[in-house]
Amino acid sequence: MSASIRLTDLHSIDDEVALSTGPAWQWLPRLTRGHRFVRWQSSVVLTTYADCRVALSDRRFGNGLRAEIGAMPDIDPRFVERRRSSLLLEEGERHTRLRRLAIPALRPRNFERFRPAMAKVVDELVDRVADHGRCDAVVSFCNPLPISVICWVLGVPRAEAEFFAEVAEASTALFSGDPSTVSAAMAATEKIDSYIEDLIGRRRRDPGQDLITDLLAAAEADGATVSGTDVMTIITSLIVGGTDTTRNQLAIALHCFAERPEEWERLRRRPELVPAAVEEVVRYAPTAYAMKRVADEDMELDGLLLPKGTPVIVMSTLANRDESVFPEPDRFDIGRTFRHPHMGFGWGLRSCIGSVLARAELGEALTVLSRRLTGLALDGETVWSRPDTIQGPVTLPLRFEAV
Ligand code: HEM
Repeated sequence: MSASIRLTDLHSIDDEVALSTGPAWQWLPRLTRGHRFVRWQSSVVLTTYADCRVALSDRRFGNGLRAEIGAMPDIDPRFVERRRSSLLLEEGERHTRLRRLAIPALRPRNFERFRPAMAKVVDELVDRVADHGRCDAVVSFCNPLPISVICWVLGVPRAEAEFFAEVAEASTALFSGDPSTVSAAMAATEKIDSYIEDLIGRRRRDPGQDLITDLLAAAEADGATVSGTDVMTIITSLIVGGTDTTRNQLAIALHCFAERPEEWERLRRRPELVPAAVEEVVRYAPTAYAMKRVADEDMELDGLLLPKGTPVIVMSTLANRDESVFPEPDRFDIGRTFRHPHMGFGWGLRSCIGSVLARAELGEALTVLSRRLTGLALDGETVWSRPDTIQGPVTLPLRFEAV
């Protein structure tokens, strides 16, 4: 590419985005195909797999959400500080340190033991709607599962932590950058902080077999560098990062299948395809459809000038449809073989640390649902949330026959 392309030289998609409705992955690929970079309001949008990978692996691309939240009007500075200390928003040395502390506690073997319980919960959820033959899948299947799972992982009774979903939703809504989301997010942060602080105190006195006990042990082994506040930061980040995403991604999966009865029947016939189906759903229709970054210094991306402070959108939806990486990218194919990882769980410096748990939850849910539900079909209009940083159905009416 020739040198010195500026933001203002780029094709703007503002007007087309304003006219678009429904999930971003249905219209974004069409709006941007043929363009390597486009402009969306004041942001540069990266559309290719290779460019997205560079931005997610290069430390000069800072955390765009962090910059955005700090710049919101009328926001309490103490709240900004607290939110910035979330793993999802943290940067630099502290971010690396917290990630290093959290990752060993999120190993596959720590979650395998929850798989039978995950399957059982989904089975029970199906039992509740089996006779009706129809339901809103968001309410009946997708919302309940991740909260149950995070409660097992943290070793707390579900009734005690019923508010996790609400807290996660209010916190992720803030990532949209919309100032009207601030007061709910502030209240949610206070609520979750005091709950987790109390929980850490309980585990210190009475260790259990759960993630908090594992993290406290890891923190102690790490000695001087890890504090109780760090452990609290990690746990809150796992609740916020793992609840809204998983329930939205499961709802999206069901929407994809309800629109494609032949793929649902294929999954029913061949349950061994479940892991590949999970990957295909997260590639084809990622709930985390965009990742926000900001140029932390003046830089150039193969001829495109990015002055310091330029917001950059790493569009995972588009990277996942890059035909040089994924042949026939607009085809939803649960038998797809992946030569390269998709970006639905991010990539590089901030990639999803809960992806093992998420894959287990989605896998168990699809295994049970495909075994129990035949003739899955849409049963009315799907209502979609706004495309902020994550997107998914708010309402997903489905019909089926339960077996
Ligand atoms: C289907 C479900 C999920 C999806 C699609 C998803 C997607 C993502 C993506 C795309 C990122 C990268 C964000 C960025 O680069 O800006 C991310 C980060 C993260 N995810 Fe997930 N996630 C899911 C489930 C989970 C679960 C279950 C947990 C916790 C148990 C979790 C915890 C986190 C955390 C803490 C981060 C921040 C990592 C960091 O900044 O270093 N996620 N996730």
